[in-house]
Amino acid sequence: MKKPKIILDCDPGHDDAVAIIFAAKHCDILGITTVNGNVSLDLTSRNALMTAQIIDEDIPIYSGADRPLVAQRIHAPGIHGETGLGGPILPELKRKLNGTNAIQFIIDTVRAQDDKELWLVAIGPLTNIALAIRTAPDILDKIAGISIMGGSNFFGNRTPVAEFNIIADPEAAAIVFSSGAKILMSGLNLTHQFGVLREDIATIRKIDSLVSNFVADMLEFFATMYAEKFFGEFNGPLHDPCAIMTITHPELFEFAERNVEVELCGEYTRGMTVVDERGVKNELTRNVKLALNIDRSKAMDLLIKTIASY
Ligand code: BDR
Ligand code: CA
Repeated sequence: MKKPKIILDCDPGHDDAVAIIFAAKHCDILGITTVNGNVSLDLTSRNALMTAQIIDEDIPIYSGADRPLVAQRIHAPGIHGETGLGGPILPELKRKLNGTNAIQFIIDTVRAQDDKELWLVAIGPLTNIALAIRTAPDILDKIAGISIMGGSNFFGNRTPVAEFNIIADPEAAAIVFSSGAKILMSGLNLTHQFGVLREDIATIRKIDSLVSNFVADMLEFFATMYAEKFFGEFNGPLHDPCAIMTITHPELFEFAERNVEVELCGEYTRGMTVVDERGVKNELTRNVKLALNIDRSKAMDLLIKTIASY
């Protein structure tokens, strides 16, 4: 199968870094764009460059928005550490950004396509994607769709009902979800089925390469933070790789069409993705293809094999 073309918009973040590592083997990555999110933009950009350097892939990387459209900045050091990539000892960074205008890069790259096969994959707050859509709405007719890690159909992580990537820039998320683009959504309802266990990390460690040791050190840190903050058990959800796998390996997932809107006002519910689960016919537009289930064991095997292939 031809590798899908993507632009990967991200805020690394451990699971973003794992998504980059997975995508570099299974996709034709036309570029990586970075956004303020898990940590500040300078750090998400540094972490994207560092990941590309460690896997030795020559992918263009552009930084984008350093703040949300309207909301105050929030970050997630309690999960990813103060640098966004807590855990591994990192080498000296040699790579440099290709530019600082991610929005223009997205617009120009999409406009240069004539086959409607390019996916925008968004695994951080949706600021860059919303700005690109608002600046150049014509790009919507030229993409295959937007694959998003964000939201959930019934629970949140940053608040009881809001997931981090959505509440970090709800106005941007609302623009993207109501854009009319084909949207593939990997929410917490899905990604919490794809937790990394101690035995997975042990298998990754046994590979004993530069890339596998980087991944193992990251995931050890990430899953430990998750266990402390949320679950008590060691089972850190690999959110962001899901938004790549839904494109590259759709056979590993079950999907359903749903209407999804982003709550912007609620005192307790701002940032929630309101998913219509009523199954009412023809009432609301089904604007989202929602991933419901993942074949966890096949997906984990695939991820580990991919890490071993470096
Ligand atoms: C999302 O938030 C970030 O912390 C992760 O990288 C992921 O994209 C999960 O809520
Ligand atoms: Ca992310």
